Amino acid sequence: MKFDYAPAPESRSIVSIKPKYGHFIDGKFVAGRKHFPAINPATEEILSQIALAGVAEVDAAVKAARKAYTITWSKMSGRERGKYLFRIARIMQERSREFAVLETLDNGKPIRESRDVDIPLAAAHFFYHAGWADKLEYAGLGTSTKPHGVAGQIIPWNFPLLMLAWKVAPALATGNTVVLKPAENTSLTALLFAEVCQQAELPAGVVNIVTGNGSTGALIVNHPGIDKIAFTGSTEVGKIIARAVAPTQKSVTLELGGKAANIIFEDAAIDEAIEGIVNGVFFNQGHVCCAGSRLILQESVADEVIEKLKRRMGLIRVGDPMDKNTDLGAINSKEQLLKIRELSATGDTEGAQRWSAPCDLPKKGFWFAPTIFTGVTQAHRIAREEIFGPVLSVLTFRTPQEAIDKANNTPFGLSAGIWSEKGSRILWASQQLRAGVIWSNTFNKFDPTSPFGGYKESGWGREGGRHGLSAYLKGVGHE
Ligand code: NAI
Ligand code: MG
Repeated sequence: MKFDYAPAPESRSIVSIKPKYGHFIDGKFVAGRKHFPAINPATEEILSQIALAGVAEVDAAVKAARKAYTITWSKMSGRERGKYLFRIARIMQERSREFAVLETLDNGKPIRESRDVDIPLAAAHFFYHAGWADKLEYAGLGTSTKPHGVAGQIIPWNFPLLMLAWKVAPALATGNTVVLKPAENTSLTALLFAEVCQQAELPAGVVNIVTGNGSTGALIVNHPGIDKIAFTGSTEVGKIIARAVAPTQKSVTLELGGKAANIIFEDAAIDEAIEGIVNGVFFNQGHVCCAGSRLILQESVADEVIEKLKRRMGLIRVGDPMDKNTDLGAINSKEQLLKIRELSATGDTEGAQRWSAPCDLPKKGFWFAPTIFTGVTQAHRIAREEIFGPVLSVLTFRTPQEAIDKANNTPFGLSAGIWSEKGSRILWASQQLRAGVIWSNTFNKFDPTSPFGGYKESGWGREGGRHGLSAYLKGVGHE
């Protein structure tokens, strides 16, 4: 028997979106010159107009950050800096519903996820790093660590506020000041965060937020007044940034793409693994750099897993992201939808078998049904390239060694999952896998205390935990 759910829409009355936004520079909002629209991907409604920063705005933001670094932030004790971070964390909690609704409207992700994952984790990153601000000398990174100075931070659209928190919290805790650019598709929660900085009375210029597209990002990367670049986004842009900073003194951390293997051994608890597979690739519409997008199944259980997985996928509720019962929301943009469609089409032409969960997709907005491809081989593009959508490629193996070889046969190495009842097998496999984060009998679990980052083309450096602090300090860890 199948139950239908009555709509349970979250109210949007808690947010007030301005018709037009400027940049946040030196503690104040300054008007932009050119603008581009912020679009709700679930409805195609234009939510607001976002300013496009050019040379003058980026330069003003860098100068404000430098001034704040020199006269205020680098002179302040860790204890004082920590107070501001605690304040920001508490205000984010107090305004969490506002942030969650705004994130869902701007990004298309289900309100259940922005409310229960993105916003609480963003606040947790500020709480965690607030605690470190006056204890850096006990972090095992040496007793005379120094911040870099001004950090330029460029973030993507898949976890807008959370990626901001991953960047801003450790930078401030370690004594750096910041020029941050949100992704062009999702600027609104960063602009609300700027209001939080004002509310917390953070000294002017410590956090500056300029909005814009890749051209604005490139201006930040190439600005001579920036000491450190932190980027999360595509491997393609990561490579451009690596080339741009190579001849300079700038430090850089890069969090790039992934094509994670989620390996199911025959002794795994299959019903739990099904939940882990679903969470691994359909969480946040699959717009997750560490998504478990390659399912690597032991042949002896492959038929059972696929049958159960299809049944479970049929229960995924796709639709209005503002509905509290929705599991899978809108694809973030038209461009991303086209990319998902194009890569999925290569799955068909290269001989894999497509199956999509039956569901009614809304007429307006950008949507893609949860989909799996079986019969995928290593040669297929859908086994090698990041789709960044709700699409799972299924491969099989016979021996444990074959599973490892397939899992590691990728230019990426961000994350991996292992499902097995046997502890020794989990330990053996996790030592063989070349991935920065390895989950066993779970997937997509995040915590500010745990370092996150990749091998190979998945990036340089770590974010979170003690390792993440080192990325914002001179002379320690990954440079
Ligand atoms: P992107 O890498 O172009 O955008 C990420 C950020 O970089 C945005 O803020 C953008 O404005 C900025 N940017 C773009 N070009 C730049 C440049 N030359 N210099 C400095 N900053 C620049 O990613 P995009 O185009 O949104 O997505 C393309 C693909 O990248 C996705 O389909 C997905 O596969 C992957 N991706 C991976 C992410 C991750 O979390 N690792 C996040 C977003 C995208
Ligand atoms: Mg791009």
